[in-house]
Amino acid sequence: MQIQFPQSFFWGAALSSYQSEGGNFNSDWAIWEKEKNLQPAKLASDHYSRFREDFRLASQLRLNCLRLSFEWARIYPSRGVVAEEELAHYKEVIDALLALGIRPLVSLHHFTNPIWFAKSGGWLKSSNIDSFLEYVSKVSSAFKDKIEYWLVFNEPLVYIYNGFLRGNWPPGEHSLSSANKVLDNITACYEAAYQEIKRVYGSCPSKVSFSKHLRSFYPCPRFSFGLNRASASLRDRIFNNSLLERIARSQCMDFIAINYYCKEYVQFAGPLGKECEHNYHQERRNYMGWYVYPQGLYELLLRLKKFNLPIIITENGTAEEKNSDYKEYLFTHLKSIGRAISAGVDVRGYIWWSLIDNFEWDKGFSPRFGLIGIDYTTLERSIRPFALEYAEVASSNKLEI
Ligand code: BGC
Repeated sequence: MQIQFPQSFFWGAALSSYQSEGGNFNSDWAIWEKEKNLQPAKLASDHYSRFREDFRLASQLRLNCLRLSFEWARIYPSRGVVAEEELAHYKEVIDALLALGIRPLVSLHHFTNPIWFAKSGGWLKSSNIDSFLEYVSKVSSAFKDKIEYWLVFNEPLVYIYNGFLRGNWPPGEHSLSSANKVLDNITACYEAAYQEIKRVYGSCPSKVSFSKHLRSFYPCPRFSFGLNRASASLRDRIFNNSLLERIARSQCMDFIAINYYCKEYVQFAGPLGKECEHNYHQERRNYMGWYVYPQGLYELLLRLKKFNLPIIITENGTAEEKNSDYKEYLFTHLKSIGRAISAGVDVRGYIWWSLIDNFEWDKGFSPRFGLIGIDYTTLERSIRPFALEYAEVASSNKLEI
């Protein structure tokens, strides 16, 4: 059987600044790593100086789009102060992509904040929203003729969950009321940023959205199944649906951007439940311990049809040890997308996480998500074999299954 993808489908890979650039010492994560004694990002994958080499490899892999992020703390090292040389650096980055015929999709916030912003109360304070909007205004004006696709935030609910409920990311809070406050502030900020980009762009084409992490929630079949089912469906409602519906109502979304990785079994532990850790299901788990579940992507895509907006998968990927596992993950997920397209879902692009191996937050450097592997002693890059098979799909726009 053959799946034919729509013409001008986006075939891409993703990166984020803090995870790959290196040298982002003005960001709150740099302090967090020290405080918590975590493996530090330091030079990360040294993408800041090697971006040309990385983009050449992306082009060799026949990718026609690349998702990356700008580091807010680089551009604004202090409140109200623009580092013009860093803006110039990002101009070189974007120009290098455009010269290779690779379309950039740029995130403005991928989990990290400038230290000065975090110290002044961060996202807990609604009066801080203006600082982010100043940055949005600055960069959208600077890149108006180069960048069409903007992702204002990456996975706001993942950021809030880890930073304000679970407390394993900065600022390390465990408070439902803080989480709610931050959600309100980030939502309001997103809508204002959307309007600001539209105002700056005027008649120039712009497509603005945010990357929403979606997950397949299933009740843990052990213990009290009924309660587990209630928790799984509550998680699904709150985590998968609520924010998309809220933003869709405000009409501040030109396309739906989703990040999908896995299935999660939920066990009752208070209404929202908790992740059920048992591994008796005999289902495949990747290096991160995540349940690999391509069918979930198909199911979630069908549910997104109701929004009547084009969809781009802005992240999907895995960390593995064996090439065959990467390949299986990639191809089974592409097949789910093909099935969803045949069922009438308007999917316009697929972006693998990640282009190169990079810093995986509190897990450090051991998980390897890259199409391109990195030897961290020499920083040498090498294309993983499964990436060449991805390149074939990208260049033919077809998948044989
Ligand atoms: C995040 C990335 C992260 C990846 C793998 C995504 O949810 O956007 O920053 O590296 O998951 O965990």
